[in-house]
Amino acid sequence: MTLILLGPPGAGKGTQSRRLSENLKIPQISTGDLLRAAREKRTPLGFQAESYMIAGKLVPDDLVIEMIRERLKEADCRGGYILDGFPRTVAQAQALDQTLAAGGAGSKIDRVVNIEVDREEVVKRLSGRRQCRKCGENFHLSFHPPRVEEVCDLCGGELFQRDDDLEGVIRRRLEVYENQTSPLIDYYGNKGILANVPGEGSIEEIFRKILKVVS
Ligand code: AP5
Repeated sequence: MTLILLGPPGAGKGTQSRRLSENLKIPQISTGDLLRAAREKRTPLGFQAESYMIAGKLVPDDLVIEMIRERLKEADCRGGYILDGFPRTVAQAQALDQTLAAGGAGSKIDRVVNIEVDREEVVKRLSGRRQCRKCGENFHLSFHPPRVEEVCDLCGGELFQRDDDLEGVIRRRLEVYENQTSPLIDYYGNKGILANVPGEGSIEEIFRKILKVVS
């Protein structure tokens, strides 16, 4: 099974795709996580991506497309995967189609799940988000707090606030989403593989709704 999770920043793509990955036994591939790891390791890609990410802008298509093509060649992708945060532009979606048509990384996308959440909810979610430095699990100070302050429930890692989760940057990311990513709703709608899922409610409720549309 090959899935794409679409939706504005803070819609819950990371939260839900981690759960789906565990349930469906296929890897979650988050371009945001891959880029943050590149920044952490101080690789050339990390340096190139850094200023865009801090400003809430998209990293240029050619860099992200090359990164994802390399990732999809890995053995764990042979039985399917969940794309979280990719594609983000029509050019990225077309590049993915070309990779799949060339026989790489599975042959087709089975479902695109579009998680719908309104702007003000997104600002609340992202300004309270804390992420685990070790395993990447997401928490929220009010909506999904860790059992022990600043400590991950799953692995005991340290929780931190992302540098793009400041209110001004969140609003910029939302504009970028409207202008550059939301056209993908029609792109995949026209292919007949899009499922819209309302993203407000508990994490468990939304997970159950997503499982229904992917099975
Ligand atoms: P990326 O890391 O992909 O960020 P994003 O798409 O902006 O999405 P987020 O990770 O902010 O949100 P999410 O939808 O995963 O929500 P989450 O589950 O964490 O990208 C970061 C940057 O990298 C980009 O700005 C860009 O610069 C670059 N980049 C990445 N991919 C790129 C690409 N393809 N092309 C170009 N550049 C790229 O949930 C958010 C919070 O809400 C958490 O605190 C969570 O606990 C909470 N929450 C989740 N669900 C619920 C719920 N149901 N109720 C209440 N709270 C909830």
